[in-house]
Amino acid sequence: MQGKNLLSFYQKQKKIKELKSLLPEVFAEDQLDIQKLKIYLEADQFVDESNYGLGWFGKEKAASQVSEESTGKLVLDKSKSIQPNKTKNQFIEGDNLEALRLLQKEYTGKIKLVYIDPPYNTGNDFGYNDRFKIRSNQYLEFLNGSGIERVDSCLKNQIESGEVHTNWLNMIYPRLVLSRQLLTNNGAIAISIDESEKANVQLICNEVFGENNFVGCFIWINRSNSNTSGNLFAANHEYILLYAKCSSELKLKGELKDLSNYSNPDFDPNGDWTPDNPSAASGNSNSRFAITNPYTNEEYLPPAGRYWAFSKQRVAEWFDSGKLIFPKEEGKRFLLKKYKSELKSIFNPISSIITDIPTSKGTRELKELYPEGLPFKYPKPTDLLLTILKQLSEDEDLILDLFAGSASMPHAIFKLNEKQSSKRRFICVQNTEAVKEDSDAGRMGFSTISDLAGDRIVRAGKLYPTIDTGFRFYRIEE
Ligand SMILES: C[S@@+](CC[C@H](N)C(=O)[O-])C[C@H]1O[C@@H](n2cnc3c(N)ncnc32)[C@H](O)[C@@H]1O
Repeated sequence: MQGKNLLSFYQKQKKIKELKSLLPEVFAEDQLDIQKLKIYLEADQFVDESNYGLGWFGKEKAASQVSEESTGKLVLDKSKSIQPNKTKNQFIEGDNLEALRLLQKEYTGKIKLVYIDPPYNTGNDFGYNDRFKIRSNQYLEFLNGSGIERVDSCLKNQIESGEVHTNWLNMIYPRLVLSRQLLTNNGAIAISIDESEKANVQLICNEVFGENNFVGCFIWINRSNSNTSGNLFAANHEYILLYAKCSSELKLKGELKDLSNYSNPDFDPNGDWTPDNPSAASGNSNSRFAITNPYTNEEYLPPAGRYWAFSKQRVAEWFDSGKLIFPKEEGKRFLLKKYKSELKSIFNPISSIITDIPTSKGTRELKELYPEGLPFKYPKPTDLLLTILKQLSEDEDLILDLFAGSASMPHAIFKLNEKQSSKRRFICVQNTEAVKEDSDAGRMGFSTISDLAGDRIVRAGKLYPTIDTGFRFYRIEE
């Protein structure tokens, strides 16, 4: 029921009054009793609308785009492709909604990671459209002359937010639904976003992927504390939201623990070890006992308020096996070894905070490829993308980047494939958005962002001559 929240407070009061005079029996005091109303109307088929979720104007239409048939086809352009007969990578030039429709047939359930770095809807000029705001008149027309007057302030705020967010939400919604369909059961989507639409996209993802498939949200510290902020609040982070197709099937890789403090100076047959703390903060009376040094007869007790981290029986066992070593002189503490082989895992979970990869790193990488100018503002640093790729993909997995921009993702995939000797493959999509003639990209001879993306893949590929850096260049044609 579109426009249900768009009645002013006074209009709502009027309607409730009318309903009450029509059906007084379904009111208790001044409150409408929905249950009574259902019983009274014998409304078995009463549509019980969910009272939770994000709604906006045009949502139903956006949802209907999911099932629309594609009107185009993918046409290979060999002249723009690199090693088209050998490569497993693809670049698609065109609107990603159409690309998503076209990919459904061949790639449903086959993509391990979808990465999306959409326009954030900031309203700023980044060389591509990042302003989705509808003009007020157009928006009110949209609402179909529902006679809305800007009476109460909540309604006013709602309309103003609608003007800002509606078009962006209509853009992203069907793309998320279609992306989900492409994912493998153990696949995931990673979404770069900032404050402008983070709250909205998270609610939509809860709807599309299910809140139980929310894996987490990286906070990416993307620049140092700004000193130009007017209100002295420096927003120096963005987000990367992660949703699994099916959370029970997805496990991140975590981060390799630092094992540099393990070594084997005494040639222990059990392998590398590091000194372990023999005491623990908690325990019971059985875990406070004296340990006797068999060489010196000296007795050791746990430090005050602490307990031994092992039982009495272990002492002799570990002394025999060489895990516990007593000093032969008095006044020295015994050594308890922790073997590398005893570690439950050599991985730590990955932290949700990403540091040390500022946006400027991405800019530097692009400048290295284009010393003559900077053809794209704020490209994502490849190391940031590596963080996601390492956690959510492996070996020959297929990765889809729907908003390629300057093609940082293919660059990152090349870098990782070379490092890990892996064969991750990509499909990336970029529309034919024109670049401004007076921008660096324009001066460098690019006419569209897709031109630039294709060119960057070629230039980045040359840095990694031993791996597959080719791609088939497809154009979406009607
Ligand atoms: C935030 S940028 C991506 C930047 C990219 N991750 C990088 O590191 O260079 C968003 C890109 O999506 C493109 N884009 C916007 N709408 C699109 C659509 N419907 N289909 C394909 N590309 C689109 C824009 O032209 C822009 O290049």
